[in-house]
Amino acid sequence: MRLLVTGGCGFIGSNFIRFFLDKYTDASVINVDKLTYAGNLQNLSDLSESPRYHFIRGDIADASRMEEVIREGVDAIVNFAAESHVDRSIEDPSAFMKTNIFGTFVLLEAVRKSFAVPKIRFLHISTDEVYGSLGETGTFTEETSLAPNSPYSASKGAADMMVRSYYHTYGLSVLITRCSNNYGPYQFPEKLIPLMVSNAMEDQELPIYGDGMYIRDWIYVEDHCRALDRVLRQGRDGEVYNVGGGSERTNLYVAKSILDRLGKPHSLIRYVADRPGHDRRYAIDFSKIERELGWKPTVSFEEGIDRTIEWYQIHREWWTKIKTGEYLDYYKRMYQDRQNHR
Ligand code: NAD
Ligand code: DAU
Repeated sequence: MRLLVTGGCGFIGSNFIRFFLDKYTDASVINVDKLTYAGNLQNLSDLSESPRYHFIRGDIADASRMEEVIREGVDAIVNFAAESHVDRSIEDPSAFMKTNIFGTFVLLEAVRKSFAVPKIRFLHISTDEVYGSLGETGTFTEETSLAPNSPYSASKGAADMMVRSYYHTYGLSVLITRCSNNYGPYQFPEKLIPLMVSNAMEDQELPIYGDGMYIRDWIYVEDHCRALDRVLRQGRDGEVYNVGGGSERTNLYVAKSILDRLGKPHSLIRYVADRPGHDRRYAIDFSKIERELGWKPTVSFEEGIDRTIEWYQIHREWWTKIKTGEYLDYYKRMYQDRQNHR
């Protein structure tokens, strides 16, 4: 299989490419990535000499480039490319609209124009955030109405609708997955877990938004990759599959677990101003993918967080290189401002 992956230099994309090439020794991957602040060639440096891996620096919103890549012949596309951080979308939504909505449209059009419809499978990586927020009970199913609350989740929801329409209107072979919060190796240290782990390792404060009682369902990235492989191979055209970790935790619990494992004091926790429009709770009903495709998560939160902390300890150079320059400007903007407004 010749697979086109977009956004493969980011967190989940790089884990998926490594997983896929390891599992299918006759497969090859073309990775198109714009290399934004979140894209890092180092995430796949071990594959740079592989004849089965080809990197192209490119923007999914560049129609002629995407048409050219797809015309060269691909069997399937996995679209990870996105602006992925909610806080950045609140600060400036424009890049989210361009990449997440327009970029997805460009890819769909490129498939349609390639006349390979419905031969090319198009797996679109979406998120549970499109469903909005839950109260104390209940879970998101694939039938839950979309009610996104941030510019990020609104852009992902819009892309999902576009993908759906290309199935119904043009007969493209599309699939959508909506996964909960991932964590694991190579996650950019702006997201909760790698930020908490790396800050704790450097005895820096752990900023907790609001009361810290917001709940996320955590999934170890390797479990997500296995789910995507199942959906790509066996999913039914035009369907949505929820993917979850079955591990609901409050942010405060996550922060304290990390501090305890690193032998650091809870006094490093710093309560800061809340995220505007902050979704209170996510929880996923993943019974559809379990029933239809035989997938379920295998890594518990305790095992996953141990593995993740160990990875960040071993790969200190990877994240210390990131935490310089533009990152420090972002961090100052994000947290000094939040501390001042608490
Ligand atoms: P990430 O921010 O780590 O990586 C995104 C990658 O996309 C980067 O390599 C970046 O350079 C690339 N990119 C951005 N704009 C591009 C463009 N216009 N053209 C080509 N490449 C571009 O993100 P992630 O956490 O790995 O998330 C990947 C996908 O999974 C996203 O679509 C996200 O919405 C979705 N998702 C993420 C999570 C999570 O917990 N991280 C959960 C569910 C779904
Ligand atoms: O649910 C899936 C989504 O998970 C993905 O679609 C997104 O791409 C991904 O970024 C993630 O979104 P969240 O907003 O849930 O993740 P984040 O790591 O930014 O925040 C997790 C929770 O922790 C959230 O309640 C906000 C809180 N938080 C976050 C940061 C960065 C803090 O309390 N302090 C922080 O410093």
